[in-house]
Amino acid sequence: MLLARTLPELRDACAALRSRYPLLALVPTMGALHDGHLALLRAAPPVTGIVASIFVNPLQFGPSEDLSRYPRDEAGDLAKLKGAGCHLVWLPDVATMYPPGDATAIEVRGPAERWEGDARPGHFRGVATVVARLFGQVRPDLACFGEKDWQQLQVVRRMVADLLLPVEIVGVPTVREPDGLAMSSRNRFLSAEERGRAPALHGALRGVADRLSAGTPAGPALTAGRAALFAKGFDVDYLELVEGETLTPLPAPETGSRLIAAARLGGIRLLDNIAA
Ligand code: PAF
Repeated sequence: MLLARTLPELRDACAALRSRYPLLALVPTMGALHDGHLALLRAAPPVTGIVASIFVNPLQFGPSEDLSRYPRDEAGDLAKLKGAGCHLVWLPDVATMYPPGDATAIEVRGPAERWEGDARPGHFRGVATVVARLFGQVRPDLACFGEKDWQQLQVVRRMVADLLLPVEIVGVPTVREPDGLAMSSRNRFLSAEERGRAPALHGALRGVADRLSAGTPAGPALTAGRAALFAKGFDVDYLELVEGETLTPLPAPETGSRLIAAARLGGIRLLDNIAA
């Protein structure tokens, strides 16, 4: 497995991979890797050179969000990537990603508005900007993103479509713990007692989906889902039925619609979503 920490190293390593593989896939990460990230690597077609990036992107953290608390474990991450068949790891530092004089950011509207866009002002600007830069640096043919961050996936798809970027976006289904909790780097911050209650988020989404399938109107089905979460001690930021691509609220399920939720348990904000 190759490592690159500077743009010249990345250029040489990508050229070496391109001479061996017809396609390059990028798996962008912020490290603290778990099986959900490794599933992104496995989603690449077999004849693909796989590049994973590890960069904790300061631009996507708000002033009230603790960037310094974000878990970092480079040695552990590299071992996991090697075990999962990664060919090249791109490890830029902040000055490489945002050099002095840098003056360009990407602002996506549409799917970036509402929900996480409201809760975390500037977050998707940071995500879109770093993802566009990673695409410019690595120039992948395809890039894999988890459905766990459904809104992020739609923001990236919108950006790629609007800017005609020559990269195929592959959405990868959420990887869950046996009890249904979506894998996330944030789960490690849950206390043992909170970890026991955390699967209720997925349970509430499933409960709403079952009610909708049984013909309950969306309003009462969503109210019941929120109530189930309150009963488990969650503070619910939102639990909504939305159109899958635009994230606009829907009065009833339709093809491609999604149930999305964000709820806090202790200080930890958990996100999840399922098809509806
Ligand atoms: O999902 C993440 O880990 C990050 O938002 C991403 C896509 C790597 C951009 O920093």
